[in-house]
Amino acid sequence: MDLARFTPGSGRLAPRAALRSDAPSLDLNGTWRFRLSPAADVPEDFADPGHDDSAWDELPVPSHWPLHGHGAPAYTNVVYPFPIDPPHVPTENPTGDYRRAFDLPEGWSGGRLRLEGVESYARVWLNGHELGFTTGSRLPAEFDAGPYLRPGRNVLAVRVHQWSAASYLEDQDMWWLPGIFRDVTLTRSTADVFVRASYDAGTGRGSLSFDGPGRLSVPELGIDGLEPGTPVIVDVEPWSAETPRLYDAVVACPEETVRLRVGFRTVAIEDGVLLANGRPLLLKGVNRHEFHPEHGRAVPYETMRQDILLMKRHNVNAVRTSHYPPHPAFLDLCDELGLWVVDECDLETHGFGQVGWRANPTDDPRWEEALLDRMRRMVERDKNHPSVIMWSLGNEAGVGRNLAVMAGWTRERDPSRPIHYEGDWSCANADVYSRMYAGHAEVEAIGRGVEDPLPDPELDARRRAMPFMQCEYAHAMGLGPGGLAEYQELFEKYPRLAGGFVWEWIDHGLAHPEFGYAYGGDYGEPVHDGNFVIDGLVFPDRTPSPGLLDLKKVFEPVRFTFDDGVVRVLNMYGFRDLSHLEFLATVEADGEPVARFTLDVPAEGGEVKLPAAPPGEGERWLTVRAVLAGDEPWAEAGHEVAWGQTRLSPAVSPGVPGMGTGAAAGGAAEEIAAGEFAVGGGRFDARGHLVRLFGLDVDGPRLELWRAPTDNDRYGGLAAAWRATGLHRLTHRVDQVTRVDEGPGLAVRTRVAPAATDLGMRVTYRWDADGDGLVLTVEVEPDGEWTGPIPRLGVVMTLPGDLGDVTWFGRGPGEAYPDTGMAARVGRWSATVDAMQTPYVRPQENGHRAEVRWATLTGPGGRGVRVSGDPVFGLTARRWATADLERARHRPDLVPGDRVHVNLDLAQQGVGTASCGPGTLPAYELRAAPAAFRLRFDPV
Ligand code: GAL
Repeated sequence: MDLARFTPGSGRLAPRAALRSDAPSLDLNGTWRFRLSPAADVPEDFADPGHDDSAWDELPVPSHWPLHGHGAPAYTNVVYPFPIDPPHVPTENPTGDYRRAFDLPEGWSGGRLRLEGVESYARVWLNGHELGFTTGSRLPAEFDAGPYLRPGRNVLAVRVHQWSAASYLEDQDMWWLPGIFRDVTLTRSTADVFVRASYDAGTGRGSLSFDGPGRLSVPELGIDGLEPGTPVIVDVEPWSAETPRLYDAVVACPEETVRLRVGFRTVAIEDGVLLANGRPLLLKGVNRHEFHPEHGRAVPYETMRQDILLMKRHNVNAVRTSHYPPHPAFLDLCDELGLWVVDECDLETHGFGQVGWRANPTDDPRWEEALLDRMRRMVERDKNHPSVIMWSLGNEAGVGRNLAVMAGWTRERDPSRPIHYEGDWSCANADVYSRMYAGHAEVEAIGRGVEDPLPDPELDARRRAMPFMQCEYAHAMGLGPGGLAEYQELFEKYPRLAGGFVWEWIDHGLAHPEFGYAYGGDYGEPVHDGNFVIDGLVFPDRTPSPGLLDLKKVFEPVRFTFDDGVVRVLNMYGFRDLSHLEFLATVEADGEPVARFTLDVPAEGGEVKLPAAPPGEGERWLTVRAVLAGDEPWAEAGHEVAWGQTRLSPAVSPGVPGMGTGAAAGGAAEEIAAGEFAVGGGRFDARGHLVRLFGLDVDGPRLELWRAPTDNDRYGGLAAAWRATGLHRLTHRVDQVTRVDEGPGLAVRTRVAPAATDLGMRVTYRWDADGDGLVLTVEVEPDGEWTGPIPRLGVVMTLPGDLGDVTWFGRGPGEAYPDTGMAARVGRWSATVDAMQTPYVRPQENGHRAEVRWATLTGPGGRGVRVSGDPVFGLTARRWATADLERARHRPDLVPGDRVHVNLDLAQQGVGTASCGPGTLPAYELRAAPAAFRLRFDPV
């Protein structure tokens, strides 16, 4: 046994399609015997059928052994967790021995042992005979079991090494999780079928042919007994992700009958535009790793389905199978429910980048066979899926000759699908120009076709004629991603831009008894990449994060624009009209519904007259929603697909009494005891600090510039700059407290500044009573040379912990920051303080509600405080302080205290995606500048 060999396997049969066959098959999943050894050189006697494994453990197949108490998971992004010395691997090489006995049914003869996925190097024995070995973890391998099967009891033994030469090809950014993690079957199926079905948009007809044994029939199309290699032209409905029309086909072979579902569709590139069925194809995609918080990459079928339903319900129309072919059932579901798929080969050698790409397997002829083997196994397995529209050679594998070999073979085998590879910007082997994390300006330049030229004019001309896609963009790590809407605008504006795939679908947080969800380092890995594996649009339990809700809004297939008395409805679908939707409208006044009606929207969209809004007071908004009129396979009738909103009343009223009118009327600050003041319902200490408000115990408000850094703040470097300035440790010096005589109230002049710097903010808090209420005016004047953005500008205060119910009129129901929150609409919302937290796996700033006109924080009996803006403010309420949020590393670190901490913001810095990609766009940056804002407090 030589784990350091380049050859990818031995004894394996030629790869073939994943097919549904009626040939007998035995499911060998289930409970196997298992033993883990710390190194590879363990005696091989375990493969002997008579070996006594009674002292071994049991392990489910499919699964990963580190998730069942054997060893531990480890996470690295780019770096290899072992020395780079290809093809050698460490002596410390966790090795799992698996044994399973099974009984062969009566009359059974011959068969293939099929392993759908083993990480990473598997040797296989049947009844003591070695069948061979395989590598290529996320790819199937078949061995001829026939000669060694015997009637009755058979014993299968599999030895799995975590590390082998092949590990150098599997450096994807994810957990290292060895084991037999996909299905094992013994099958008598041998057929391979390649169905080629295309659609001609000009004639509305489809062409169908196939390679393989037997005869093909599609009863619904009147095709009966078609011979291989003879195309037929038929009237068909095309397949698209929006209209996933499939036709049942049967291939009758001499020994078995194979069933397939055929979708007619054609992918093409014309004039630099990506087309499907003759129409521009805009990919609204996500990158999906296979992940489950308990099962790792052994994802249950129902979970795969749930992923697709969630994607469809959030207007996602495409998936890149980053960075390896998924479980084959996932692609069946994509065919059925409708997603465009970029199927990616199980290849990544990113860690060679750490050593200047020296000895990169991608460019070394000794690895050619292994790389080609991976490509062939993917293409052969997945070639019949209409959902698969592009083959990707792999991810971040550098450049080199072997890519040309992979691409060359693929073009020959399947000329119908373009080839994708991002790692070589010259696109020498690709058909589309793909990049990751290109900023908005560069994407725009590419859209306009004015990108910087390549040094080689020929390659440059070739690339200029290609459509462009971002195979990864909008890094969804922690709070964010910011900047989604601006990308989508570009994708929709320039025909060359075929859209892209947000990074990434799910947080790979592993369920952990202490940490809630674990990330890199939580298992004591000596080399790891921390929480970089927590960068998904859904949390590990698949709860959508605010980022997914925003993405849903940005990806909407229907757009509304409003004008005087009309709404224009734009059909953004590529392949269907609007007749499956119903359009519901609501008018709300100050967040209370005052009218509801439906709109009659033509199937192709267009301008629709709006009924006259009912007369009335208050800030009035019209919301139009497009919902499914009937059930779709992926959502029920009533599911909201898109919405639009417009304000009917002239403006957000600043007309809260006592606001916008200068000094308020009321009694002057009154000295009620030595060094204690009262202004209306507020009590202040001698330093002008509010200590009681309407009888409630309060602390603050005082200036706050800090937020618990987001992943984007941290990885992008802003947090370090902020910390270096000391924004997390502001000191507050009170310079003057004055009773204001000319206008009744109290003015507190302060200078707020961190130690060890001459930067500061001169802040004046002015309190005025007005009726039962209290108006606070905050004036801020930067002092010194402030450079760069600041996290936030606002005040923070604490309230008694029983004020746990919040109602607000503003944007909601979810969080929103300057460059996020597209999903947040204006309305009246209620939530508890606890429910207002977004539970990012690694805690950070979150939960900010934007453009709040007023909010009440109340407790038992509905009593509490109402805060109003002039006209709006940003609201955050938590049961812990910002410092606690910042200190927390995992969800359980956040322990509710006995106060409610409330931030009332004038502004926040945008979010961006600097954890991997561009930072906040300039329009969403917050700079230190003179500012003034006003808040009004009333008792409730
Ligand atoms: C890309 C890579 C992904 C992931 C991402 C950062 O470079 O392709 O696998 O690592 O960056 O999360």
